[in-house]
Amino acid sequence: MSFRVRLAWVALAGCIGLTGCTGKDILAMRQHPTELPPSTSVTPPGPFTGPAISATSDYPKNENSPRPEPPAQFASLKNPLQATAGNVAKGKALYDANCAVCHGPAGLGNGAAAAALNPKPMNFTTPIHTHLPDGYWFWRISKGGGVPPFSAAGSGMPPWESTLSEEQRWLVILYEHTFSGGAQAGGGATTGPAPAGPGPAPSGPGAPGAPAVSATTTYPKDENAARPEPPAQFASLKNPLQATPENLAKGKALFDTNCAVCHGPTGLGNGAAAAALNPKPMNFTTSIHTQLPDGYWFWRISKGGGVPPFSTAGSAMPPWESSLSEEQRWLIITYEHTFSAKK
Ligand code: HEC
Ligand code: HEC
Repeated sequence: MSFRVRLAWVALAGCIGLTGCTGKDILAMRQHPTELPPSTSVTPPGPFTGPAISATSDYPKNENSPRPEPPAQFASLKNPLQATAGNVAKGKALYDANCAVCHGPAGLGNGAAAAALNPKPMNFTTPIHTHLPDGYWFWRISKGGGVPPFSAAGSGMPPWESTLSEEQRWLVILYEHTFSGGAQAGGGATTGPAPAGPGPAPSGPGAPGAPAVSATTTYPKDENAARPEPPAQFASLKNPLQATPENLAKGKALFDTNCAVCHGPTGLGNGAAAAALNPKPMNFTTSIHTQLPDGYWFWRISKGGGVPPFSTAGSAMPPWESSLSEEQRWLIITYEHTFSAKK
């Protein structure tokens, strides 16, 4: 690494440290599929290991390397738009007009202008693109390749903040997610009144093509089945909390007190009370738990197993809405995500 690049890194890392955009926050975003825009079908292109974002990275030299952490003002941004058919169509029009020339019509990085460029326009269909937080996408599209560390590598990625409105940038992002995540992009095609999308185009490992939530399902009989769609009032909820060390510690304390007896101290579903139960307390470390939308978690913890379809299966999952505050439920959710991500 050249001295210049090193310097750029020190500067970036310093800014991140000062402004509180910690690696934990980034990790949280990565672990929170639902903080990314909903789509209705999740087709991870392949297994993915390692962080999507990291403070030290040799991207863009190495296109499989974790991406640099976005500056603090971008890090926590969330796409405010839903992947409805209308929005995805608008995003496609913007993409075709502005991005396809380099990134290619299908996001493969093979547009007409690609041959002349080094580093190459990225291929948006690789597994890492299902894991990048919204804030990373928005940063990159807004500022382009003229900022460190991309500038040092000679990136030809243009900045779009003065040519595309914020809304247009989010629309393009919705569309770009279809390259890596969605066989289909018309997020509007969900069954519920609210877009009860299985969360994120970006998603963790899982069976290709398997949605994380679905209107028809054999869960909890089959613990690998897609989860039922949360009711409309839960479907679009997002965890308002960041996975700071403080919040994780609070979530752990609440989990240890209230949940570990059934779900086990490390979320494996093997707590002391588990043996007696059928269906079993869920194991939170399976791949589907990296994909479930926040609204699903919040619904389940609030209402427990006493509502259909869980009640029919005889679920012993207690409702927590009267014993834990909303904030406490979100703290636990923040902590629970560490079980599935740590695998
Ligand atoms: C002139 C060619 C060119 C055009 C036009 C272009 N890009 Fe890029 N883009 C690049 C190059 C080269 C890179 C790889 C280097 C880098 O990351 O800066 C890149 C990288 C990116 C990345 C980072 C991808 C990653 O894997 O980390 C995003 C996101 C992106 N472009 C989005 C867009 C969007 C959206 C548009 C249209 C609004 C667009 N680009 C238009 C050349 C281009
Ligand atoms: C008395 C045992 C018991 C306790 C205590 C308990 N659960 Fe559960 N939980 C279950 C059972 C059994 C299931 C599986 C059946 C179902 O989904 O309703 C379950 C399922 C869940 C699910 C759905 C998981 C999935 O994979 O879809 C979540 C989320 C959950 N529990 C969170 C919690 C949290 C958070 C706490 C503590 C605040 C907690 N549980 C306490 C028994 C328990």
